[in-house]
Amino acid sequence: MSVTDRCNLRCFYCMPEVGAEFAPRETLLTFEEIVRIAALLVSRCGIGDIRLTGGEPLVRKDLPKLVAMLSAIGDLKDLSLTTNGMLLEQFAGPLRRAGLKRLNISIDTLDEANFQKVSRRSGIDQVVRGIDAAIATGFETIKLNTTAVKGVTETEIVSLVKFAIERNVQIRFIEFMPLDTDRSWRTENVLSGNMIRDIIEREFGPMNPVPPPVASQPATDFQLAGGQPIGLIQSVTEPFCDACDRIRLTADGAIRNCLFSQHEFPIRDLVRSGASDDELIDQFKAAVSAKAAGHGIDDGSFSPPQRPMYSIGG
Ligand code: GTP
Ligand code: 5AD
Ligand code: SF4
Repeated sequence: MSVTDRCNLRCFYCMPEVGAEFAPRETLLTFEEIVRIAALLVSRCGIGDIRLTGGEPLVRKDLPKLVAMLSAIGDLKDLSLTTNGMLLEQFAGPLRRAGLKRLNISIDTLDEANFQKVSRRSGIDQVVRGIDAAIATGFETIKLNTTAVKGVTETEIVSLVKFAIERNVQIRFIEFMPLDTDRSWRTENVLSGNMIRDIIEREFGPMNPVPPPVASQPATDFQLAGGQPIGLIQSVTEPFCDACDRIRLTADGAIRNCLFSQHEFPIRDLVRSGASDDELIDQFKAAVSAKAAGHGIDDGSFSPPQRPMYSIGG
């Protein structure tokens, strides 16, 4: 569930440097609307896990309040958040106290000059302080997400693995996907999971495969000899569409059955015009039934979705 399309960074693989278009505020689902939908999905549709995303979810005002409202839904097994870490120093404690269980924090580089090149804002120190604050707070799980781009990130991989080892947290490397606003994605710019694995193995020795705890997870899990967990999210070179069980809700109230889908199932107007629970559930069923077999990036049948990543919800 995306809670906002706004963000305090401007990563080149997601947003434009200037002129990003945001949904008008009145189109954003309110906390009450989000919680109504979430409670229905949990009680009637077998949804067990909810992940909050953005944009950057922590720029949505009072996010810990939404976390507390969602945590109060009986039978919700897991509640997690994907964040760029910029505001975590301030929010780690309030989020944990509100009932957030797991955090995935994005970090693509440890070098400020490279951070500015990727994110087009300053602040790697702030992200690192956010990660350390989250670790000190004590979540059930914290994972680091690194989007890897050829010509930009090769030099960061070894130092980021060391960073994760020092902090005893899992790190996952994500292949660059064609979801950027600028449409600058090219196959040649994808630093593939295999290339990333080569870089890591040259420095740290073999990455030993680990069976996934959940079959539908996007990451393939590995472990280094010392036990350090590493994940590869190979959306482009090893698509996992056939195992995907996700359903997405944009901040402005559209159901999407895939990051890459061409078609959406609007739900905001239904919610606001007094639709019954059954009518809302029917819209989710329609979305799930229409899920495509695959994104087609690997077989040439792909065309990018109308919305870029920040508006879909990373
Ligand atoms: P957990 O496994 O529960 O920790 O969550 P996750 O790995 O799905 O969460 P996260 O939001 O951190 O996702 C990490 C990255 O996986 C995202 O940034 C995407 O790049 C990728 N990803 C997540 N969902 C999808 C999806 O539906 N399709 C594809 N192709 N990639 C996805
Ligand atoms: N390709 C791969 N990963 C992306 N992310 C955002 N845009 C892209 C893209 N085009 C990642 C961010 C963050 C997560 C929310 O999504 O790096 O880790
Ligand atoms: Fe913001 Fe995340 Fe997009 Fe970067 S990838 S601009 S942090 S929403």
